[in-house]
Amino acid sequence: MFFRFVCCLVVVWLISASDESCPEFPSVENGIIVIEEAEGQVLGTSICIKGYHLVGEKIRFCNASMEWNAPVPTCRLGHCPDPVLVNGKPSSLGPVNVSDKITFKCNDHYILKGSNWSECLDNHTWMPPLPVCKSRDCGPPGNPAHGYFEGTDFNSGSTITYHCEDRYRLVGTQDQQCIDGEWSSALPVCEFIQEAPKPAPQTGFDKALFAFQENKELCKAIKSFVQRLKENGLTMEELKYSLEIKKAELEAKVLS
Ligand SMILES: *[C@@H]1O[C@H](CO)[C@@H](O)[C@H](O)[C@H]1NC(C)=O
Ligand SMILES: *[C@@H]1O[C@H](CO)[C@@H](O)[C@H](O)[C@H]1NC(C)=O
Ligand SMILES: *[C@@H]1O[C@H](CO)[C@@H](O)[C@H](O)[C@H]1NC(C)=O
Ligand SMILES: *[C@@H]1O[C@H](CO)[C@@H](O)[C@H](O)[C@H]1NC(C)=O
Repeated sequence: MFFRFVCCLVVVWLISASDESCPEFPSVENGIIVIEEAEGQVLGTSICIKGYHLVGEKIRFCNASMEWNAPVPTCRLGHCPDPVLVNGKPSSLGPVNVSDKITFKCNDHYILKGSNWSECLDNHTWMPPLPVCKSRDCGPPGNPAHGYFEGTDFNSGSTITYHCEDRYRLVGTQDQQCIDGEWSSALPVCEFIQEAPKPAPQTGFDKALFAFQENKELCKAIKSFVQRLKENGLTMEELKYSLEIKKAELEAKVLS
C-alpha cells in the first residue's frame, strides 16, 4: 500500500499499483479516493471530509476498457446535501454542518408527507429522510375492471361514486372522498354475479313422469301420465327407449 499526495489530493491504494488498472489517477478535492479490489474488479470509493458532501458516484469501477465507468465526483460545501423541498420551505437552504437540524413547511394547499424535521448525520445523510410536499388534491382515480366512477371533481374534499357494469356487483366502498391528496378507500372490485345453473331440459318422458307423481290417485295419475305423453308426441316405441335410458341411468347410479 502506498499514498500518493498531489497538493492535498489523496488517493489511497489498497492494491499493488502494478496491477492492471485504470491508468489515470482519480482524485477529488476535499476528499479521498480509496482504490481496492473486490470480486476481481478494481473499485474507487470517494469520501468527503467533514463539512463537505459528495456529488456524483460514490463508488466507481475500472471497466474492461481500462476507464472509470463514471466521471470523478466532487465534494461540495455543506456536510449533507442542500435540503430540497419542492412546493415547500426548509428552515435552512444550506450549506449545513454536521448535527444541524432543520424543519420543513409546505406551501398552502400542500401537505407534508414524512418528518417535519431532519438532522444532518456524521455519514453525510439526512435522518429522518427529507419529506415531500404533496398536493391536497387527488388525481383521477382508477377504474376497477368492469366498473367506472361518476364525478369530475378530484380536488380536496370532493366525492366520486363507483358503479359496476350489468351482471357485476360492487365489493368495497362505493363513495370515496379526496382527503389530503388521497382517496378515502381502496379501489372497489366488480364481482361477476354467478347465475343459478339452468335446469337441464326436461324430456317428454320426464314431464310425463312428473305429471304422474303429482297425482295422489293412481287412476288419475296414469291418466295424466298418458295425456302428457301424448302432448309431448311420444309414441310407445319412444317411451320404451326413454325407459331404457332411465334404467341405464339407475343402474349406473347403483354401480357408482
Ligand atoms: C468504460 O467506461 C467508459 C466511460 O464511461 C465508456 O466510454 C466505455 O464504453 C466503457 N467500456 C466498457 C467496456 O464498458
Ligand atoms: C458551519 O460551520 C462553519 C464553521 O464552523 C460556520 O462558519 C457556519 O456558519 C456553519 N453553518 C451553519 C449552517 O451553521
Ligand atoms: C412537527 O410535527 C409535530 C407533530 O408531529 C409538531 O408537534 C411540531 O410542532 C411540528 N413542527 C413544525 C416545525 O412544524
Ligand atoms: C447513516 O447513519 C445512520 C445512523 O447511524 C444510518 O441509519 C444510515 O443507514 C446511514 N446511512 C448511510 C447511507 O450509510
